[in-house]
Amino acid sequence: METTLILLKPDAIQRGLMGPIIGRFEAKGLEIAAAKLMVVPRDLAERHYAEHKGKPFYDGLIRFITSSPVLAMAIRGVSAVAVCRKLIGVTHGAKAEPGTIRGDYGLSGGYNLIHGSDSPESAARELDLWFRPDDIVDYESTQRKWVYDPSDL
Ligand code: RTP
Ligand code: MG
Repeated sequence: METTLILLKPDAIQRGLMGPIIGRFEAKGLEIAAAKLMVVPRDLAERHYAEHKGKPFYDGLIRFITSSPVLAMAIRGVSAVAVCRKLIGVTHGAKAEPGTIRGDYGLSGGYNLIHGSDSPESAARELDLWFRPDDIVDYESTQRKWVYDPSDL
């Protein structure tokens, strides 16, 4: 099992898309292990997006992510990092495939609704930034035995 960081960005919250987007992760069989609605402090935004510091879009990105609440979630499942990136789609909504979250709900590169960690290493770093260890809940999911073949686990 892997756990990844998902952020529903300010546009997703303001457009009332939390329910439909969370529903996609649930319907896939992934588990929500933590969730926190919060206005993002600037220092957290800067640490989260440190790899983009100095790029032309960086200032706008920090302004956007701190402009209105986000929903931070820890999402768990087998290969959760790659599976979530696939469900999310490519960065720009107008280029993202239909059937993906960005492809179905977005048209923008900046206002692209959602973040997902891009590797298991990024997921570990980002989960540590956004959650305290005991915010991430380990519980017995009753559906797990019907989502996975025993040989998957
Ligand atoms: P994210 O980190 O938010 O999940 O998005 P991502 O992996 O698909 O894209 P990434 O390359 O990590 O970029 C982070 C965010 O910066 C904005 N961006 N703008 N104008 C541009 O060329 C450009 N490139 C990236 C996007 O809002 C992207 O989500
Ligand atoms: Mg990224």
